[in-house]
Amino acid sequence: MKLLWQIETETAPAWLSLIQTAADAALLTEGVARPCAASIRVCGDEAIREVNRECRGIDRATDVLSFPTVGYPAGTTAGCADKLLLREFDDELNACMLGDLIISVPHVLAQAEEYGHSPEREAAYLTVHGLCHLMGYDHIEEDDRRRMRAMEEKILASIGMDRDESAAVSDETLLALAIQARERSYSPYSGFAVGAALLCEDGRVFQGCNIENASFGLTNCAERTALFKAVSEGAREFTAIAIAAEKAAPWPCGACRQALNEFAPGIRVLVTWDGQTDEKPLSELLPCGFGPKELPKKE
Ligand code: THU
Repeated sequence: MKLLWQIETETAPAWLSLIQTAADAALLTEGVARPCAASIRVCGDEAIREVNRECRGIDRATDVLSFPTVGYPAGTTAGCADKLLLREFDDELNACMLGDLIISVPHVLAQAEEYGHSPEREAAYLTVHGLCHLMGYDHIEEDDRRRMRAMEEKILASIGMDRDESAAVSDETLLALAIQARERSYSPYSGFAVGAALLCEDGRVFQGCNIENASFGLTNCAERTALFKAVSEGAREFTAIAIAAEKAAPWPCGACRQALNEFAPGIRVLVTWDGQTDEKPLSELLPCGFGPKELPKKE
């Protein structure tokens, strides 16, 4: 999902990457095959209050507001509204515009405390809630409310962020998240777009894409983008990485194998290309790898 960001309030970077992953997971879970976009404004209570007053006549701040562009007929959601989505196709974005989301940072912080979970989880939950509205869900009637709650939980579970701590991210989801991350590849020189999705021991998923550079040598592979994002957000243990390319199996290059070996010598490496998938453990891709264990212990 292409997110058009408008960030007005200081926000932890971990929220933003989680919001992106949650948005990608929402489209996948709903089964929307087309590329979609949404604008997302991250702001303070005064700003959201003003929008709430002007657009809904409610003069108070709230946690999340969503304004869908698509007029879904009753009982229809984005996954079965291909023609309606297509009407919102924007040539410049090369995606179907689903609408606008506004999230209040003070509400994320206060609600996270109230419910006793992390602000990241609350940011992901509010994003998923708002996106469900953009995809045609609502919670006015009891039946609709239940359907929306079930979809929210399904989306959050697919990225390991639901209430059930034991729920695992499936290989299928991880591969699909890698395919979506590939859409954000910056590869004007090689034209070889790669996406990656790295699964942490604690259930979080970090996505990455390859980022090329006019100096060629500075190119960063998708796997290392995902790994460095994760490590810089405090994750240290990883169980699987999915890597997606278009026409050839994107087994990680030597540098990425070494970088992954530093943290997770036993990680499972899944690749997907051209509708095919394959899997090998890193230990097979980097036999006799040199890692932290090989260095003498410091006194
Ligand atoms: N690339 C990756 O992102 N991951 C790999 O495992 C292999 C190669 C990228 C780097 C460069 O942008 C392009 O693919 C062609 O080498």
